[in-house]
Amino acid sequence: MHAFKPTQAEAQKWDADDPLAVYREQFHLPQTAAGVPYLYLCGHSLGLQPKSVAAYVQQDLRDWATLGVEGHFMAQTPWWSYHETLAAQTARLVGALPLEVVVMNALTVNLHLMFVSFYRPTPQRYKILVEADAFPSDRYAVESHLKWHGYDAQDALIALPPREGEAAVRTEDIEAVLARDGASIALVWLGGVNYYTGQAFDMARITQAGHAQGCVVGFDLAHAAGNLLLHLHDWDVDCAVWCSYKYLNAGPGSVAGCFVHERHAQRPDLPRFAGWWGHNKTTRFEMPPDFDPIPGAEGWQVSNPPILQLAALRASMDIFDQAGMDRLRAKSEQITGYLESLLDHHALAGIRLITPRDPQQRGAQLSLRLARNGKTLHERLTQANVLCDWREPDVIRVAPAPLYNTFMEVYTFVNHLATAHADVIRQDS
Ligand SMILES: Cc1ncc(COP(=O)(O)O)c(C=O)c1O
Repeated sequence: MHAFKPTQAEAQKWDADDPLAVYREQFHLPQTAAGVPYLYLCGHSLGLQPKSVAAYVQQDLRDWATLGVEGHFMAQTPWWSYHETLAAQTARLVGALPLEVVVMNALTVNLHLMFVSFYRPTPQRYKILVEADAFPSDRYAVESHLKWHGYDAQDALIALPPREGEAAVRTEDIEAVLARDGASIALVWLGGVNYYTGQAFDMARITQAGHAQGCVVGFDLAHAAGNLLLHLHDWDVDCAVWCSYKYLNAGPGSVAGCFVHERHAQRPDLPRFAGWWGHNKTTRFEMPPDFDPIPGAEGWQVSNPPILQLAALRASMDIFDQAGMDRLRAKSEQITGYLESLLDHHALAGIRLITPRDPQQRGAQLSLRLARNGKTLHERLTQANVLCDWREPDVIRVAPAPLYNTFMEVYTFVNHLATAHADVIRQDS
């Protein structure tokens, strides 16, 4: 743990010593119509655009314009195998073998594809364990699979809340549910980092506890990919999905990721929703009637991928490779720790940090619960050109992204927060 001084000089010192500071200029920094820069602390929602994206996308636009259909095999990066160029980088990002990862579709679509294969209920084992405040899309998807298999969520969904008066779900409580109800739980499905509280779950421990009870264990890594150091293979996670538009900076709605552990690579007993892009590459264009899945995560592909989105993702992943997840995580712990210490220093009445204080139990994001007038305070911040986000009913989420945010921005943010807070209190009294 670092001891931070709540001064501007401290922020300037950290920025001067930051080995990753050079990456900021590789991003487009949003500004108002009048050219005033926004203070952007919203990388947990939508990451900024790397300047290199344009060149990557333009190359494929040129190849499409000049080659037409021939681009599948003759483009600078041939489209037919384009997604393969991302396998090694993606594997490094999430701690997997290249065989275990693929980029395809969108996050919730991948989540459904994983549930088709990995939620295999039996009369004795049919329940799904989730965190109570899971992202709504996960909740809808989970409930839709329960319904699809003829189960009632009242009985088959275990939605675990935090303890009374706490915001984070304790790992020991997850373990206790597994010890008690594990024999009836088919699937444990949690966010790697909870979207609302910013809590990072202990994925290794939870996977172990789930497996000890015979459950399948998977994670939604929307808020974890590009944020935490992940070791999905070593943790023995069964399957995982993530999006690439948050910390991965690949653009709105960009193509998502999927992990399937090596031990499931060749399991003919696993049903799946198949499509031609998951079929054996050596015979794909012979158009055979029988589906022969590619071993590994690629075998879960359905359609040929969106090349322009993959181009943006390649640009972003090249930056991640240069910067390195180890260094990014080290800065992330520092800059989020600095934000936390400034918030503690100001101790603004009615604003409470609900993200765990232990850096191991969180990523970049801090979630602030506002006792009163939270939405008004958030509007004040927006008027001051600060972009963080408001989540109903009472939380402001803010995340310094280590690739492009500075310590000085964090310092400025907390000053804006204090000013807005004082304004709102004055108006309210
Ligand atoms: C945890 C989580 N799951 C699912 C989604 C939905 O993702 P998509 O719309 O890309 O399917 C989001 C989006 O922010 C999310 O944060």
